[in-house]
Order: sequence, then C-alpha cells, then structure tokens
Amino acid sequence: MIDQATAQRIKDAADIVEVVSDYVHLVRRGSNYMGLCPFHNERTPSFSVSRKRNFCYCFSCKKGGSPVNFIMEKEGLSYKEALLHLAKKYGIEVQERELSDEERARQSEREALLVANEWAMKLMEQDMRSTQEGRDVGLQYLTQRGVTDEAIKAFHLGYAIDNGQHMVEEARKAGFNLDVFKTLGLIGTSQQGREYDRFRGRVIFPILNNSGKVIAFGGRDLKGGLAKYINSPESQLYKKSNELYGIFQARSAIVNQNKCFLVEGYMDVIGMWQSGMRNVVASSGTALTDGQITLIHRLTDNITLIYDGDAAGIKASLRGIDMLLGHHMNVKVLLLPDNDDPDSFARKHTPEEFQKYVDEHETDIIRFKINVLLTEETARDPQKRIGAVNSVVESIAHIPDPIGRDVYIQECAKLLNVTEDSIAQSVSRAREILIQKWKKERQWGKSGTQHVADDGQQDNGTPVQTATVLTTGVSAQQQQSYAGDLSFRPLELPVIKYCVRYAFLEVFQTEDGESMIDVLEYVSQELEDDNIVFSVPEYRTVFHELQRIRPEFAKVLQQRRASLEEEKKKKMQAGIEEIATQDLSVNEIRIQEKRLEEEIEAWAHEEINDFIKVWPAQMLASHEDDNVRTTATVLLHEKHQLSNIYASAPGNETEESKLDRLVPRAITEWKGEILNNQLRALLRKYHDTAATMTPEEEEKLQLRLNSLMKLRQRLAKEIGDRTLLPR
Ligand code: CTP
Ligand code: MN
Repeated sequence: MIDQATAQRIKDAADIVEVVSDYVHLVRRGSNYMGLCPFHNERTPSFSVSRKRNFCYCFSCKKGGSPVNFIMEKEGLSYKEALLHLAKKYGIEVQERELSDEERARQSEREALLVANEWAMKLMEQDMRSTQEGRDVGLQYLTQRGVTDEAIKAFHLGYAIDNGQHMVEEARKAGFNLDVFKTLGLIGTSQQGREYDRFRGRVIFPILNNSGKVIAFGGRDLKGGLAKYINSPESQLYKKSNELYGIFQARSAIVNQNKCFLVEGYMDVIGMWQSGMRNVVASSGTALTDGQITLIHRLTDNITLIYDGDAAGIKASLRGIDMLLGHHMNVKVLLLPDNDDPDSFARKHTPEEFQKYVDEHETDIIRFKINVLLTEETARDPQKRIGAVNSVVESIAHIPDPIGRDVYIQECAKLLNVTEDSIAQSVSRAREILIQKWKKERQWGKSGTQHVADDGQQDNGTPVQTATVLTTGVSAQQQQSYAGDLSFRPLELPVIKYCVRYAFLEVFQTEDGESMIDVLEYVSQELEDDNIVFSVPEYRTVFHELQRIRPEFAKVLQQRRASLEEEKKKKMQAGIEEIATQDLSVNEIRIQEKRLEEEIEAWAHEEINDFIKVWPAQMLASHEDDNVRTTATVLLHEKHQLSNIYASAPGNETEESKLDRLVPRAITEWKGEILNNQLRALLRKYHDTAATMTPEEEEKLQLRLNSLMKLRQRLAKEIGDRTLLPR
C-alpha cells in the first residue's frame, strides 16, 4: 500500500515533459511540446505535451493523460505499479504502509516462491542444452517442430530431466528449503514420504507474468502419456484465470500495434511469434476471464480471437465475446482453415501469407456471430431462429456505444430481413436488463442523487417552473430507462466538459449580483433546480468527484495565494533594485515602479487563473479510479463541435472567455432534449390510447401536453435559432 501523502508527492514530482522524453523525442512548439505518438505508428507528430497542464495527449489515437496515465499505458502497468515506477525515477522513497506480521510473512513467502521458480526455470533451460538427455529428447522435439533458437531463448523453454530425483537433488545442493518447491508443485511427496520431481521428461513452458516474473510452468508430455500437459498448481503466485501466456513477451508489440491476438495454446503463441506476429497471447485452453481481459485492455482496445476452423473452434469463439464487448473492446475473430491451428498454420506459411490471411479473413465478431448462427437450417426452424436472434441481440446490447449498436442493428435487420425498429426494440430491452444487472454489480456515484425524480402527479395547465414540469409524472420505470438511455450523452458531454475544464473558475454572478459563483456551482444549481443528473455513469462519477474535491481545492488555493504573495514581493524587490540601478529621474522612477506593479499584478492574476484550471484537471487525470482518469483525460482534450452559431461567430474569442454563454446554453439544450423526450412519450401515449380514454383522462393529458409545449417554447427562445421540435 502506498499512503496518500506519498502518492501525492510522486504525482507532484512527476513532470510530464521529463517522463515522456524517456520514450519520445520532443520538440518545442510554443508553450507545448510535440513528438511522434508512442502509442501508434505515425510519420507526422500528433502527440502533444503540455508542461503547464502536466499532460500529454495524442490528437490522433486519443491516448495520453497525466504522467501516471502515460506510464500505465506505455509500460502496461497498474496504477500502483506506475506510481512505484515514477517514485523510482524521481528518487522518492515510498513509505509503504507498515505491514502486519501476517502480511510480512506472506510477502516473504511470495519472494521465496519467486526465487525458487526463477531458479527452477534456469535449471531446466540449462539442462535442455547441456545434458545429453536434454538435447536428445527436449531440444530435439522442439527443433523438429520448427521452434527456433531465438524463440527458445525468448520464452525460456526448457526440459525436465526424466530420472525423478534430478530437481530434488539439485535444489537440495543449492540449499533450498524443499517445502517451497512443494508449494509450487515442482516437487511432490510419495506415500512413503519420498520426494520426487513432478515434471519429468517434459518440455517446459515457463509462464511469466506481466512484469516478467516466473509464476508457473506448463510441461508437455513427449511420450504419448495420458496427461499431455501438466501445469503448476495455483499458488500465491499463480491464479490461472488472471494470467495470459506470453503477455510479457507480447506487451510492447501489443502497445505498438495497438492490437492483440488471442490464441489457445503455448505452441500457438510461439508459432505466431516466430512468424513475426509478436502481439499474441494465449488463454491456455480455458474460457477468457474478466481478469485476463483487463490485462489486455490495459494495452489495447483491439483484440482478435484466433480459432481453429472446425466446429469446436467456432463454438469456442462465441464464448466470452459478450464479456469482451462489455469491456468496450473492439473484437474480431479469425477462423483458420480446417485442421489448422495458429501454430501449424504459421509453420506452413510465410509471415507475409499469414498476414494476408489475417487481413482477408478477420471478421467483426457480431457479423461473425450473425453468420454462424443464422444458417439456412436455423432460418427454417422458427424456434432455432428465435434463439439465434436473441443471442445476437444480447451481444449487440453489450456494446456500450450507441452508434456502434446502431450499426449492428442495421446489419442484423438486413440479414434477417426484419425491420430495424423491431431489432432496436429488442436490443434496448436487453440493454435495460443488462444495465440493471450491472448496476447491482457495481454502484456508481454514491451521492443521494437520482435520475429525474418522481414527485407525483401535478398535471395542471398553469405555467409552471421548469423544475416541476421536468419532474412531473415520470414514473419509476421511465427513470430506469432514462438512466440507461445514452442518447443524452452528446448533450451531457459539453456540460461535463466545461465542468472538468473550468470547475472552479468564477464566471457567473449570483442573482443579487453581489458575488460570483464558479462553473461547477452554477451547473450543480441548475441540475438541482430540475432534479437532473447525468445519465452517463462516467460523467456522473466525474461530476461527483469534482464536488468532492472542492474543500481540498479551497485549501490549496489559499496556500497558492499565500505563496504567490511571497513571489510577488520577491519580484517587486528585484524589479525595484533593477530600476534603482538605472539613471532615472524621480518622476521616471515613479512611472517605472507603477508599471512594474501592474505587470506583477497581471502576472499573479494569470498564475492564479492557471492554478484554478490546472489543479482539478490534474487531480482527475491522475485519479486512482480508472474511470475518472480516463473520462477526465478525454474530456480535457476533446475538441467539441461548437453549435453553428458559435462556429460562425467572428473574432478569436476563446472558450474560456465566453463560458458565461456557453455553459447556460449547453444546459438548456440538454434540458430541452429531456423535455422533448417526455413530449414524445406523451404524444405517443395520447396517440395509442386516445380511443379508450375517459374524457377526464384526456383532458388531463391535454393539459400536461400544453404545459410541456409552453415550456418548450420558452426553452426554444433561450436557445435562439435552434429549434426544439420533436421529430
Ligand atoms: N492446456 C493445459 N492443460 C491441459 C491441456 C491443455 O494447460 N491439460 C492448455 C495449454 O496451454 C495448451 C492449450 O491448452 O497449449 C491448448 O491445448 P492443446 O491444443 O491440446 O495443446 P497444444 O499446445 O496445441 O499442443 P500440441 O500442438 O503440441 O498438440
Ligand atoms: Mn497445437
């Protein structure tokens, strides 16, 4: 555990220009630096680094962020690991929280296990080359399968001598406590209490974790025995479901190519690696887990699953894809020709042919699923057909991005020859269920906020406050769908963006004109007035986080002000001394001093202004919650499409200088859309049930429609040229 204070010290010390410069050649451009993006291949620099904001960002691939983010991305580390990495760079001693006795014991056990594994790996590597048996059996097998010397070294392949006592004796000689080897499953104990080697006469595939530590072994049988593979048992070092074979060797290739291939077995990884495709890992024959996906997702968004072209391979490829989709990953699948696995295919073809095959046969996973499930046979059997469609719908519902979903809805409708609407409806139903499920699993923002609140019926025709209208008559069920309806995302985006960029900048006057309030406060009040919250969970979390850090901000701002006073005094002093050295008349001195004072004031003002913008941005962008960090980073850099009226506005006004207009407008547009949604629903209801309504019911509905229409007119006026009419 790194304590809070140390974590903060590390973040404060880490300078983005220095950190990035370890990987990228940077050239100064005005107040920023530019370089070639380290996250994708490019020839013209689109990677921008701002020292002032302590940020980096690629305008092309959109990766970047704080120094912590950068290191996480670049080195494929966890948040904590990245902090430790930076601490090392800046010579900051990390005061890890005092470990309890139990924790210390675990820690030293872990170290003992790692040392033993490392030693065993080296022993078996050596034995394969330096013993007769190793060469004749192990090396011979690998060579015959076409494994190169380079691959043997890179994957630390080895051979376990077949006499049953070899490792036992060697370990004893080296002074090891054999209990450690037993825990690791390298040595077993017979019923008579005799120790023996568990891996015997097998080729050994060491399994390295993300940072290159040996955590387990797989041993392949060479004699046609019953157990083709034996593997290390789970231990403190090794949780099979959280590891991927080859991740250490593939890490940087995955980052550089922004893509990861996933295969089944050890030999598949090695075969593809030899074929030049080094961004490849294996799930070791089991279904993919969340932990494994996270490991990959830290390095890239793009994953291609490679399977054998037989029925089993196809079936396997459909497993786990919904999970991948839910992780916001772009999933593709590649089927190899019948009877080939990646290893055999790689050996039969040149790397160029393999690459060409990938390019031509890689299929988008949902398209693939549609094609596989909706065969002629299922098309004829209505029962099967329903099952197939449902399964596809379920997958589409897992895609977080609404545009992505739409594309597949269209595709699916076309292939099935049904209307887009019917598919869209099923998808949105499936998605609501999913969202409810996710909500239960993981609770977002913990504030007492609700989506549009339900304060009962209040259907009278008199002009009412926005607040009452927007919150009137929204049932709990509608709340639910509002929560899951991402169609508000584009409207919420500018609002949250202004909050992230300018949270504590005071640009609004209070109603009495007496004091100023900042952007965050203004937005909070506006939302509270109408009982609205962000429907996009990430936005809600970020918004909540900004509110949470407000008190801390007040404190640090005060400190910054105090230190600035000191700096001002010093500057003044230096300036006055400078003036004194010049040969000036008293009058001239007075003028110079006046000018100096003004300059310093302006400088100090600018410094404070910067601080107000930069501090919250940095807090968010180096936040320990992945979601807060990523969302904030994107929002800080996103070039939002301005409404036409502003795009065509003359002059070079900055976003900051017109916040007093931009923020209210963005909020009004958002509220307008919520209103529109309610209007649409009401109109639909009217349309559907008009025939069966009692006169009272009809009147009630009419009144409510009227009040909504009026409100819409008012909003439309506020927004100006933009119409708010529902389509
Ligand atoms: N596997 C395992 N334990 C087993 C069987 C399989 O861990 N008892 C994992 C291994 O990672 C293996 C992968 O599942 O690489 C795929 O299994 P399989 O296709 O049977 O083996 P290959 O590695 O393809 O072996 P080979 O090509 O030598 O037959
Ligand atoms: Mn194989």
